[in-house]
Amino acid sequence: MTRHWWQDAVVYQIYPRSFMDSNGDGIGDLPGILSKLDYLQWLGVDTLWLCPIHPSPNDDNGYDISDYQDILAEFGTLADFDALLAEVHRRGMRLILDLVINHTSDQHPWFLESRSSRDNPKRDWYFWRDGRNGGPPNNWESIFKGPAWEYDPHTDQYFLHLFTRRQPDLNWDNPAVRAAISDLVRWWLARGVDGFRIDAITHLKKAPGLPDAPNPEGLPQAPAYALHMNVNGILDHLDALCAAFAGRELLTVGEANGITADEAEAWVGFARRRLSMILHFEHWHLWSNAPEAPLEPRALQAIFGRWQQALDGRGWNALYLENHDLPRVVSRWGDPGQYRAQSASALATACFLLQGTPFIYQGQELGMVNTRFDSLDAFDDVFARNRIAELRAAGLSDAAILQQLALTARDNSRTPMPWRDAPQAGFTTGRAWLAPNPDYPEINVERQLSEPDSVLHYFRRLLALRREEPALRFGAYQPLPQPDPQFLAYLRDDGDERLAIVCNLGRQAADYHHPTALPAPATLLLGNYPRCGHPDWIRFQPYEARVFRLESER
Ligand code: GLC
Ligand code: CA
Repeated sequence: MTRHWWQDAVVYQIYPRSFMDSNGDGIGDLPGILSKLDYLQWLGVDTLWLCPIHPSPNDDNGYDISDYQDILAEFGTLADFDALLAEVHRRGMRLILDLVINHTSDQHPWFLESRSSRDNPKRDWYFWRDGRNGGPPNNWESIFKGPAWEYDPHTDQYFLHLFTRRQPDLNWDNPAVRAAISDLVRWWLARGVDGFRIDAITHLKKAPGLPDAPNPEGLPQAPAYALHMNVNGILDHLDALCAAFAGRELLTVGEANGITADEAEAWVGFARRRLSMILHFEHWHLWSNAPEAPLEPRALQAIFGRWQQALDGRGWNALYLENHDLPRVVSRWGDPGQYRAQSASALATACFLLQGTPFIYQGQELGMVNTRFDSLDAFDDVFARNRIAELRAAGLSDAAILQQLALTARDNSRTPMPWRDAPQAGFTTGRAWLAPNPDYPEINVERQLSEPDSVLHYFRRLLALRREEPALRFGAYQPLPQPDPQFLAYLRDDGDERLAIVCNLGRQAADYHHPTALPAPATLLLGNYPRCGHPDWIRFQPYEARVFRLESER
């Protein structure tokens, strides 16, 4: 079987605005990233994914791009980028960019031309339509709330935006759009990047005719996912994009809301030669459908297991619990109080030892928790601000809105990286663009480097183990029985070795005893609690995770 470098890779996601500021303006930048490569290499990650670094009015923090072939001045220059890439490569590491091509900024020259007149050659690069009965052309709701259409008085038409009004959607049905995107992809490949994370890729195709969404409640706008996500014909657009990747060993990972495990092989099957992997949303929705409910480990394992079994030997998974769009996983599914460190390391063990490529989001390796918001003014994210307007219009009190957003807002994971117990968490000598998480005196890199039992050191051991044990990279996944619903447990078996991963993801100590599940003798390879000397591996403390090698006869 052919093996690809990205199957051995561990990806570290950087939110450049919040990683490290090198010049005191309060905004993270490319030289700041360069200055932290020793740390990242020590941790054991080898591939960096940078969230968008291009010129942007920052309506959606860089996900609204106004020039694909340059660097946002706040982050540095193309020369800074080349220097970073060269140093990453010199260390045997790799770097991928965020490719945001479902939409551009409203300040991108393509859109400025498109909006200039109804007969501009680029008019059809975006979706322009006449209004209907004095309102938008259809009833679609934007993913970021409000109508998905913005009126432009200059030409008396509306344009489509699935995200913010400053992110007009590109019309991928237009071959000139596809060609322009292929050109910029090739331009970055010629510069030496090792791949791309492709933003919002399942939205590239819209239902022909842009029909209304079903709207039984008669609201002004209705969610329209079925009409703009994973719509018939999407794979043709995907193929057009993948043609620009052909012939290279790239890591390409699509952000793929709406794709199920059954459909995954079409997107990432080895034989199809489309993407390397996708970031699916099924476990994300387990949380977002019930943000206040405690984790049900069984439900999480059911989702993980479906994807493991669907792709084993046929394609490859991307493994993640956090990103810049999600609150911190310890606050969502762990215990941010008493068992912060244990829940951070147990959740990481449960997810990152599955078959696939781990994606660690900056700060996750410290077991960071959600930040605190004193007032509604503390939210920076455009999505949060839209939600505030929507919830106020629905009559909620500011206190109730604050409570809801504190739990769900994307700002939670976008606070500056806490490097040290120093002003501004050691992130900047100036004033950070977004206040650091007030926990930084306790939760920071410097402190955890000095503590061998820290979450940080545990992540390093976890990644080292994954590197050392082929079964953890390539072995097949088999679920282990869950005698108690608090457990998430599985085997990885590559024919030579069998490793058992057993995680108690609950706040109570519990026994993992199943007569056939873990035949002794087993050797403990990794655990997130200090061993107390006796060989009883039945009893698991709260959020205890252990990895065993099974020595028994097969
Ligand atoms: C993706 C990004 C998110 C962004 C959106 C629009 O979901 O991860 O941060 O807001 O696309 O580009
Ligand atoms: Ca800076």
